[in-house]
Amino acid sequence: MSKEVNIDWNNLGFSYMKTDYRYVSRWSDGEWDEGKLVTDNKLSLSEASTALHYGQQCFEGLKAYRTKDGKIQLFRPDENAKRMQNSCKRILMPEMPEQKFIDACIEVVKANEKYVPPYGSGATLYLRPFVIGVGHNLGVKPAPEYIFCVFCVPVGPYFKGGMTPVNFTIADFDRAAPYGTGAAKVGGNYAGSLLPHEKANEKGFADCIYLDPKTHTKIEEVGAANFFGITKDDKFITPKSPSILPSITKYSLMHIAENYLDMEVVERDVHIEKLDEFKEAGACGTAAVITPIGGIEYKGDLHVFHSETEVGPITKKLYDTLYGIQFGDVEAPEGWIVEVE
Ligand code: PLP
Ligand code: COI
Repeated sequence: MSKEVNIDWNNLGFSYMKTDYRYVSRWSDGEWDEGKLVTDNKLSLSEASTALHYGQQCFEGLKAYRTKDGKIQLFRPDENAKRMQNSCKRILMPEMPEQKFIDACIEVVKANEKYVPPYGSGATLYLRPFVIGVGHNLGVKPAPEYIFCVFCVPVGPYFKGGMTPVNFTIADFDRAAPYGTGAAKVGGNYAGSLLPHEKANEKGFADCIYLDPKTHTKIEEVGAANFFGITKDDKFITPKSPSILPSITKYSLMHIAENYLDMEVVERDVHIEKLDEFKEAGACGTAAVITPIGGIEYKGDLHVFHSETEVGPITKKLYDTLYGIQFGDVEAPEGWIVEVE
């Protein structure tokens, strides 16, 4: 247990808890205001806000890590800032300048320092930046005002078990349309995923895997994470599609596989009928980190990769390198780490 805050760091899951400060900035008349830290975790908004009716909102997820020497660092926050700008562009919301986004994250972490889990607990401080359309509006059109907010929560593993493999099933639904909003981190994509997720849980699976919405033959996403597979000849393969959320973790793993583990990396179609080509598979994302995929159920059969109970050796090496970089134990590529003072 922490002395300063009553938190059992080693047993955290992925759930909300109120921390002390969040950053809020408002946009009106064409510009963002200065923004400030506030203690109130409730927002007041018009009943006619576009975020409430038309899903005009987007969000991000990134983490702050405590290193062995007690420092705190962020992992590639510039990439989250850029992705949020792309999400905003897609649904006609004003973009938050990259540096202002990063500064807001740093301010929130500093103000909530006592909630950054200790090194060695495996837990992290999850940051949730978001933009919502607010102000009075009735027709389907962009909001007259916006709120940008960043709050934070200490978290443990997203999927129970952390590095223990979990099984997934193929969804009967699509999460995105071929030319829809799949590549943007907008709330509507997640609302549509609630029912398939619940159905997967009811069948005993950790979550569901979405196939491409056009042909339903290729793997797109693993719930709220990207997919990767390791072929029998040690290649790192990950799906390429315009309706996948471009995962920062996935692009980081591609770099790690190529430059730290000397593997060939290919972004291409991953056919659900050809799972045999992989000896290991995993889900990757900020919340999921790397979650080994034990097996995938498709048309009533469970295809098992390395094992349903043990992580495969290459997935483990990828995880150790990523985790090492994030917690400051392995040298990071230039620009990946931003120190919080
Ligand atoms: N795919 C979806 C649908 C997600 O929600 C996330 C989480 O952000 C990811 C993939 C992983 O992306 P990242 O690695 O940037 O967190
Ligand atoms: C993340 O990995 O940051 C996510 O957004 C996943 C989920 C909690 C929505």
